[in-house]
Amino acid sequence: MGFLHQELNLKCLLLLLNLNFCTLNVSAETQTTTSEALALYSISSYWQNKPTSWVGSDPCGNNWVGLNCSNLHIKKIILPGLNIKGTLSEDIQNLTELVHLDLSSNRGLGGQIPRTIGNLVKLRRLILFGCSFSGSIPPELGMLKSLIFLSVGSNRLNGSIPREIGNLTSLFFFDITWNNISGSIPISNGINLGLDLLTECQHLHFGNNNLSGSIPAELFHSEMILDHVLFDHNQFTGRIPPTLGLVTTITALRLDRNRLTEAVPSNLNNLTILGELQINDNQLSGPLPNLTGMNALAYVDMSNNLFDQSHIPPWFSTLMNLTTLKLNNLLISGVLPTSLFSIPSMQAVQLRFNLINGTLDLGSELSTNLTLVDVRENRIQTMANVPNRDNLHIQLDGNFYCNQPGASAQYCNVPPESNPSSYVTPSPNCGNLVCPSDQQESPKCSCSYPLEGKLVFRFIAFSNIYTNFTYYTALEIALYKTFQQFQLPAIPILRNPKMDIYNYFDIDLSMFPSNTDRFSQAEVAQLTNLFTNTTISQPDAFGPYYLDAVPYPTFQGKYLLFPNFLVPAIVGGFAAAALIVGLLTFALCQRRKARKAKELSRRFGVWTTSGSGSDIPQLKGSRLFTFGELKKCTNNFAEASILGSGGYGKVYRGLLDDGKLVAVKRAQEGSLQGGQEFKTEIEMLSRVHHRNLVSLVGFCSDQNEQILVYEYIPNGTLRDSLSGKSGVYLDWKNRLRVALGAARGLTYLHELANPRIIHRDVKSNNILLDHHLNAKVSDFGLCKPLRDDKKGCITTQVKGTMGYLDPEYYTTQHLTEKSDVYSFGVVLLEIVTARKPLERGRYVVGDVRNAISRSRDLQGLNELLDPGICHNGSLPGIKRYIDLALKCVEEFSSERPRMSEVAKEIENIMVLAGMNPNIASETTSASFGAANKSFSCDDDASFEYSGEPYSLRIVLPK
Ligand SMILES: *[C@@H]1O[C@H](CO)[C@@H](O)[C@H](O)[C@H]1NC(C)=O
Ligand SMILES: *[C@@H]1O[C@H](CO)[C@@H](O)[C@H](O)[C@H]1NC(C)=O
Ligand SMILES: *[C@@H]1O[C@H](CO)[C@@H](O)[C@H](O)[C@H]1NC(C)=O
Ligand SMILES: *[C@@H]1O[C@H](CO)[C@@H](O)[C@H](O)[C@H]1NC(C)=O
Repeated sequence: MGFLHQELNLKCLLLLLNLNFCTLNVSAETQTTTSEALALYSISSYWQNKPTSWVGSDPCGNNWVGLNCSNLHIKKIILPGLNIKGTLSEDIQNLTELVHLDLSSNRGLGGQIPRTIGNLVKLRRLILFGCSFSGSIPPELGMLKSLIFLSVGSNRLNGSIPREIGNLTSLFFFDITWNNISGSIPISNGINLGLDLLTECQHLHFGNNNLSGSIPAELFHSEMILDHVLFDHNQFTGRIPPTLGLVTTITALRLDRNRLTEAVPSNLNNLTILGELQINDNQLSGPLPNLTGMNALAYVDMSNNLFDQSHIPPWFSTLMNLTTLKLNNLLISGVLPTSLFSIPSMQAVQLRFNLINGTLDLGSELSTNLTLVDVRENRIQTMANVPNRDNLHIQLDGNFYCNQPGASAQYCNVPPESNPSSYVTPSPNCGNLVCPSDQQESPKCSCSYPLEGKLVFRFIAFSNIYTNFTYYTALEIALYKTFQQFQLPAIPILRNPKMDIYNYFDIDLSMFPSNTDRFSQAEVAQLTNLFTNTTISQPDAFGPYYLDAVPYPTFQGKYLLFPNFLVPAIVGGFAAAALIVGLLTFALCQRRKARKAKELSRRFGVWTTSGSGSDIPQLKGSRLFTFGELKKCTNNFAEASILGSGGYGKVYRGLLDDGKLVAVKRAQEGSLQGGQEFKTEIEMLSRVHHRNLVSLVGFCSDQNEQILVYEYIPNGTLRDSLSGKSGVYLDWKNRLRVALGAARGLTYLHELANPRIIHRDVKSNNILLDHHLNAKVSDFGLCKPLRDDKKGCITTQVKGTMGYLDPEYYTTQHLTEKSDVYSFGVVLLEIVTARKPLERGRYVVGDVRNAISRSRDLQGLNELLDPGICHNGSLPGIKRYIDLALKCVEEFSSERPRMSEVAKEIENIMVLAGMNPNIASETTSASFGAANKSFSCDDDASFEYSGEPYSLRIVLPK
């Protein structure tokens, strides 16, 4: 393919050279310099969709679109956004006078960036943003000493950053964002060049690549004048270099989503004009950085790191320009200072998943800009000074507050993230104007073809993206003014601001022609160039952006397409070009096919390649994660993220990019299943949906890992509640409700799931409690049912936990649903005794049986009951409850009830206890005891906070 390509290239050139001798030199001195014209023909012969005006023999004289000539030399080629397809020819080298090359936003333009580009020594701007270039960045770029603007972002480049770039001492803007560039950042050493030599550079945009190694300390020194240092979404390791504090010109620092470790250097405070600090999603440790004195800070995100536990830092409230503070998942404790909410610019405070307690007091001087207070999953008990304001969203889900009677659903039941008010630039109502399907209604009330795209920002300094229209108006004005300044007849319309899945802010932009119904190609190129060249000075709150442009339709111009004398050359050239394009298209299609197959296998796992396709729908709803994603979202499977562990491996807490908390269950070596078995399990789990079962979010099967990702259930296990470990207090009614929920979940598995599922490991550690203390059964595994003959299944290996294990199953190894019933009976006893089933050699089943047979009634049971369920008060239904539990633990499985019967009986008991079994949760009877002391039985139960995180304890009356 490569060889063929070269040969065609040669033929094409020969044809063009012939042309040179026969026709063109007739009037060479009045036309574009011949060698440059020839180079341009050659370059465009590799293009499909070249500009319609590129006809005629004299590029400069015939007004070819996108060209700027001077003294018959081609100085600028500006062709962004014209949907050009093909490759960039090596003959680019012959345009030796070129100073400005912009081919950006042509997604169909790919192949390697030719090394010969190093000959263009006069080049000042090289903009290839948003194409499909592949291969590595040519080191020859280091010869372009005049280069001030180098943008090759959003391509498919790989390889490392060539150290020769360090030669570009005039470089001001260096952008490689959104590629697959790997390796470390090169540093000079007296012999070799390195990026530390870029002393004129203000922009290092390296986000979304695969860069690794540590961020070299030598990169930063006091001669640097860096403004934006954007290293987010890479694989950087090691510490944040303290030398950063020497570059006091930095206004935006993004190091988020890397694997940085160690403490944040304290001289970061030297960056006094820093407005944007994002160091979230790393593994930074040591104390929470003290940001005192960094008074320009507007947007701060330090979430998801491994900082030491800390109290709410006092410096919070001294940063008077703060709009956004994100400190999720950092073990921060104490009471939120009220002063935080009175910072006048404050818009969003997000401290999810910390240990914040006491009262959430918004104070009397609340910032009018505040729209979000997200303190979900903390330990807040009460609220004070909450204003009645529509645009203020307070989210308290997962706090003690929400488990109290009278808790306001407005703060506790947060609806799924939605886009409440999609912003659109106001424009006139055009009545019943109806436009053809390929056109749109313009702000001038006519039908036209807008130039459309998405403005993607590398960062923003605000967070109320749905409500603060002031920003968008400012952006509209900036755009409009720039269009006018460059005499471009365009009207901007912005709509639909949002955060994308990579956590970048974007907003849709449509530019409508203001005088006609369409833009000329020259206008399209100029308009697009305004964005690629960052000509538009954006309002303060916006960081740099790029325009991800939608290809503009090509309209045939009025030019004569083939002037006679060029026909032979063009036909030859076209034949070659057509062939190349054909081959290219073929290659692209193949690649697309391959990519599609890869994507499919990414979504559905490697096993679907077998072809039948019938597997696919069964996996609907569960997502395939990469190992990398899960590693990131669990802080590299950090100790601090561990929720629990068992024989199969460990369960970690994870925070997905979209803010959703998950439990990540990672099988350890030795407990891996066969690939087919794992597949079957996922298929089965993703079909299981019941409100009393923990649902599967997704899975991961790369790199020899078997990881299941479940929804995160915030209130811990039933075991931890009964032991007092989690601080979640359950009264008698709550316990009945938990028992019913678990029984219903198991009934579903036994009787409704298809195929039916035997849990095999029912125990209090596998019953989780959600926000409303509803039970969710977790960890149900696989059982291969015996289809043809009798019910049940044979397992080669007895699974289960001592204390809960059905003795019949243990001896016969014949597994039926009744084994789960036995285990559940043990759980029922555990619920009323709060004892572990096996404790200091005593077995709860035996003890309860003995106690009852000794006294022939429930009296003997008193000493066994958990004092926490108020045995001095009444426990309505307790007798039937104990009967039911003992029925479940009958020695012979045939004597035990079925799970649906168990559930039914619990419902009956609840009715005896004055409850309605069909109301999912009555939060009124759930209590953490703290803020309101209305335990349903005893009022003298008291509550104490032990002072250490994760160990709230209920102290009950003796
Ligand atoms: C471009 O320059 C190279 C080297 O000077 C030459 O070999 C080649 O023929 C030129 N290409 C065209 C299209 O003129
Ligand atoms: C650095 O630039 C000079 C021109 O100033 C050039 O001669 C040299 O080859 C360049 N070095 C590299 C490694 O590109
Ligand atoms: C802070 O910046 C000043 C220059 O503005 C520099 O002299 C000093 O060494 C820096 N401090 C630290 C701790 O890096
Ligand atoms: C933070 O730094 C400031 C000054 O650098 C200091 O006064 C303050 O005590 C520090 N705060 C904490 C909590 O360390």
